[in-house]
Amino acid sequence: MERNEKEIMSETSDFLPLLGTDYIELWVGNAKQAAHYYKTAFGFQSLAYAGPETGVKDRTSYVLVQNKMRLMLTSPLHSNSEIAEHHKKHGDGVKVLALWVDDAYDAFEQTTKRGGKPYLQPTTLTDADGEVRMSGIHTYGEVVHLFIERKNYTGAFMPGFKKLESTYNPEPVGLLYVDHCVGNVGWNQMNPWVKFYEEVMGFKNILSFDDNDISTEYSALMSKVMSNGNGYVKFPINEPAEGKRKSQVEEYLEFYEGEGTQHIAIATQDIVSTVKQLMARGVEFLKVPNTYYDDLLDRVGPIEEDLEPLRELGILVDRDDEGYLLQLFTKPVEDRPTMFYEIIQRKGAKSFGKGNFKALFEAIEREQELRGNL
Ligand code: FE2
Repeated sequence: MERNEKEIMSETSDFLPLLGTDYIELWVGNAKQAAHYYKTAFGFQSLAYAGPETGVKDRTSYVLVQNKMRLMLTSPLHSNSEIAEHHKKHGDGVKVLALWVDDAYDAFEQTTKRGGKPYLQPTTLTDADGEVRMSGIHTYGEVVHLFIERKNYTGAFMPGFKKLESTYNPEPVGLLYVDHCVGNVGWNQMNPWVKFYEEVMGFKNILSFDDNDISTEYSALMSKVMSNGNGYVKFPINEPAEGKRKSQVEEYLEFYEGEGTQHIAIATQDIVSTVKQLMARGVEFLKVPNTYYDDLLDRVGPIEEDLEPLRELGILVDRDDEGYLLQLFTKPVEDRPTMFYEIIQRKGAKSFGKGNFKALFEAIEREQELRGNL
């Protein structure tokens, strides 16, 4: 097999080679209902389950899948538990950003010796389908990274889970994989977390936005995008910046009661079709004013898509040196104005939609204002 320079480079210099996102786990108040929501509204499919029936006494976990994206929804069964405490404080939110690795023991060794705070000592889980090795470290807020090694496993998900069969299987909507996950951190905490991803996990800062890029009349934020060596895993980190009014990041921090994952961006190959289906199933999206489309093509140049469906659905477009991207953001998917999703289709562009920030943040601020939080 021919190997390019980049691959050889990343093998020699990347002390934490990542194969991608393994799964994302949300700790929620009612995992059974959340699973129904993600199947019905987002088109996820049942994959695996753990709970009292599989010997787990303190929680239930439902694992759903759509193409390469796995989502785990976990709820506590009693008040006296870490999960219940987490839910009481934060509401529904991301607990685990699990990363797929070739060697979970080495991932733990490499990251903890560089200052990563251990969350899960290296562990091997086995069942009739083989073994999964895992370990984990803490990141911002109460979020953790688990390192999952599954090369010797052939089961549905991992030991401790049984295959989740269901007679209720709504159609997928074309969601493919996790494109990036954004963390919101506190005042002056962006750079320390950038340093964490650089030093502990070997990530690089590939893009930075300051409050001049990301500010409206009222509020501001700063952001740095961290990427692993092969670019499969990208974690932008936001912190609030001073503005006339309260930053959307501050609103998040106030209602999440701490730092946490702000949004998960999921890739699609056909955003018009995906968003149309999501809307038909009741997913709510942020809406930019119709005037956004009046000069869109002057701003971004020629695109392959027809403008009319983009305008109708409110899909945003941005261009960088390498191509363009189409994106759209949901409203928060909980009652607290905290986590939301982004749907993104990349046509060459590797950036994050900087050209849309202003229109987008003004849309967010209109929602903030309705909540009385601007
Ligand atoms: Fe994003």
